[in-house]
Amino acid sequence: MKIPTQISGNIVYLDTPAVFAFYIVKTNAHYPLALVCNEDDVCIGVIGSYEVDPDRINISTLTCGEICNREFTFLKDKDEDSLYRDARNIFAEKAIRTLPVLNEHRNPVGLFGRWQAFFLENYKTLPYFNYAHGLLCSAKQAKEKGYERISTIEFGVASGRGLINLERYAKEISRLIGIGIDVYGFDSGGGLFAPSDYRDCPQIWIEGEYKMDIAALKEKLYNANLIIGDICETTKTFLEKYNPAPIAFISIDVDHYKPCVAILDMLLGDDKYFIPMPLIYFDDIPDQVQFQGEYLAIKEFNAKSEFIKISPEYSGFNTLFYHSENDMSVWKQPNVVSRIKYLHRFKHPKYASTRKTKNNISIF
Ligand SMILES: C[S@@+](CC[C@H](N)C(=O)[O-])C[C@H]1O[C@@H](n2cnc3c(N)ncnc32)[C@H](O)[C@@H]1O
Repeated sequence: MKIPTQISGNIVYLDTPAVFAFYIVKTNAHYPLALVCNEDDVCIGVIGSYEVDPDRINISTLTCGEICNREFTFLKDKDEDSLYRDARNIFAEKAIRTLPVLNEHRNPVGLFGRWQAFFLENYKTLPYFNYAHGLLCSAKQAKEKGYERISTIEFGVASGRGLINLERYAKEISRLIGIGIDVYGFDSGGGLFAPSDYRDCPQIWIEGEYKMDIAALKEKLYNANLIIGDICETTKTFLEKYNPAPIAFISIDVDHYKPCVAILDMLLGDDKYFIPMPLIYFDDIPDQVQFQGEYLAIKEFNAKSEFIKISPEYSGFNTLFYHSENDMSVWKQPNVVSRIKYLHRFKHPKYASTRKTKNNISIF
């Protein structure tokens, strides 16, 4: 039995030191659960926050087999609808955050989070909730406009943390909204290029930062498409070469001005490749760089393009406000949703509202 790569990071064995399970439980935001297996990959027990609670137990010399809970609840691997129904029933009864999904031999085949079962209620507490939010809003818009399939893209993938989250949220949103979602990730693979000039914010970014481990990332992804190469080149051919389903939500996290310009130029492509008002998340629009980087690219884009505009043109965040008063080294994440903007495609055949009466108000 081969355990799916996507959950292999949650697997420990009976003789694995318990501290490994502690690490899994403390660092995995989506699935804080270690599955304890025997040598045949049969799941014998689970370790959650209770089992590794330092107030209750000193795990330093113990093994996972010694501390695991062997009387645990799990989900039987079934068709998707039954799986979700069973999960919701169990989560409604018990204060559990993650359930293992086991096959008929009790081999782990998946993990199921409370966040998945109740996605719409709690997605704003998840990592990269800006991705969940942007994709959800754009998928709703697309559904209302009659699309059956859309695309979402992360420009700037690095280790893949964002893309893995985007892929997870795409799966949940696709189920909830009833729309197909294809996921793409663009990156050079080799990290940041050398800044071309002052517009690439050389005061912030360093050449070679954020190198990818492409093979390792591919193992963790289900079906997201990785497009490796200089974005200034790959964006020139992407639309024609891949003929993507209409693009609905985009994340731009490429740090430099030059690739951002190339991405925005791609957005000038034919309307058939886009929903009428895609949402774009801009990661790097702190107030201190208004004459460089993504800000500059947005301003220039709006100036040159008459019927396709990014709105709001100005809205960012001031990094100085986001340090704690007592400890300047503590970084508090600035409001990420305020960095989501709209790409208005005024001439798009589906741009005009579909609502019939004033009472039937729907924003998207
Ligand atoms: C900050 S990292 C992205 C982090 C990622 N979005 C996340 O949240 O995990 C920026 C990435 O942009 C990529 N990048 C910057 N300029 C690029 C270019 N011209 N072509 C391709 N990739 C580029 C770098 O390789 C780097 O991996």
